[in-house]
Amino acid sequence: METFQKLNDFSEKRLRQCFRILAVLAVFAPSVFALDNGLARTPPMGWNSWNWFGCRNQYPGHGQLNEQMVHQMADTMVGQGLKAVGFEFINLDDCWGNPNRTATGGIAPDASLFPAGMKALCNYVHNKGLKLGIYTDAWNATCANNIRGMYGREDQDADTFVAWGIDYVKVDNCYRPAEVDNGATQENASRTQYVKIREALKNAVTRGLAKGNTTAHPIVYSICNWGWGNVNTHWGDTVGNLWRIGGDISIAWDEFWVQINTATSLYNRARPGAWNDPDMLEVGNGLTANEDRVHFTVWCMLAAPLIAGNDLRSMNAATKTLMTNREIILVNQDSLGSQGRVVSSNANQIVFSKKMKDGGYAVLYVNKATSAATISCTWQTIGTADPAGTGLAATKTMYGRNLFTHADMGPLTGSYSTSVPGHDCFLFRLSNSTTGTIDVHKQLSNGIGGFTIRQENGNIILNPGTIGAVAMSIVNL
Ligand code: GAL
Repeated sequence: METFQKLNDFSEKRLRQCFRILAVLAVFAPSVFALDNGLARTPPMGWNSWNWFGCRNQYPGHGQLNEQMVHQMADTMVGQGLKAVGFEFINLDDCWGNPNRTATGGIAPDASLFPAGMKALCNYVHNKGLKLGIYTDAWNATCANNIRGMYGREDQDADTFVAWGIDYVKVDNCYRPAEVDNGATQENASRTQYVKIREALKNAVTRGLAKGNTTAHPIVYSICNWGWGNVNTHWGDTVGNLWRIGGDISIAWDEFWVQINTATSLYNRARPGAWNDPDMLEVGNGLTANEDRVHFTVWCMLAAPLIAGNDLRSMNAATKTLMTNREIILVNQDSLGSQGRVVSSNANQIVFSKKMKDGGYAVLYVNKATSAATISCTWQTIGTADPAGTGLAATKTMYGRNLFTHADMGPLTGSYSTSVPGHDCFLFRLSNSTTGTIDVHKQLSNGIGGFTIRQENGNIILNPGTIGAVAMSIVNL
């Protein structure tokens, strides 16, 4: 009996201990195990220097990353209407830096490229209402062996980024020291170092504020370890705001599908604050206009970061029209943050469906063949992309909208079928009758809309036309 009592006391004590440990874990869990920096609630949008400019004068005739170019990119982002549709980051990739650390062990820009320094560059970009991103490495050096990496200097470099006012940091995976792998799995080594940098970035903000830097602010954390160490399936979403799911993108139609296939299989990893990154865009860099359209809209459907990789200063009309199409971008930036899924496919046809916050769906038909083909899909199939599992009733009448032409497609029931040119796509949105995007100057086929706006004695007068049961809100496009 006594032994029994003792055993009982012992297990009770253990149980209480366990509860205490669990309670402590519960309190600290969000800050210790997750990124929780409150940023990138929708996929980040911006521009990055790498895809078109590479390192120094790598591509003759393209020019090289420097202060004047960054100013011009920021000016163009505003002047060409990219900022107005949501683009905000100006991101420097590799080869911005001085290859040697300073006397105090810090990192510094190459003064011949950035004579005014990084703080001044941040100020320039911030004054345009934009944000500045920078690039570094988790280990000994960046991939072009330009800048020394953060390994062993995590806090010092994070402090520097915060002091400069940096808003976004992409952290690459090159020059990993041999000792890191000794006795450790690839996953452990990679995860441990990227977590260390996450914490360094977070703590640098606290330290900055304590030192009186009143503008110290959290930094979007972009992991670039190419899908390595199980980042895609095990830890990217708790460590970074975005993580590269594979190797580098290139300007080739077939290669795109490698990135896309990996990204589509990872749809359940994405959510507000955490995004699969199939790499920066190649829009405007050499694909045909049709292929560019597919590339851009697939990225939108996948809730992928939209980081332009072209020379914004010399965009042609087709590129500009595509990249400033706010209705397509709204598919990407939808606040539900649900990544689109492949709901139907065969060798040449793919249907993507993405559940939207308003209860409807964005639907993309892609024709991978070289000649035109008819693609169709049913509501039931489209509804399988609903993360809540409710789906879309086969008989429901939905209201379609062509997001390329901005034309309403009228009431549609059950399925939709259309001809799609070769290497091209068709993107439309299906909305419940009362929640679609309504152009102020158009009347929908259900009789809703037909708004007019006029100016009268300095006031803007909105005549709502036939509004039916539509809830009206004014959205700043
Ligand atoms: C690669 C990375 C590219 C680019 C490049 C710079 O590892 O995937 O996006 O940043 O390094 O050297």
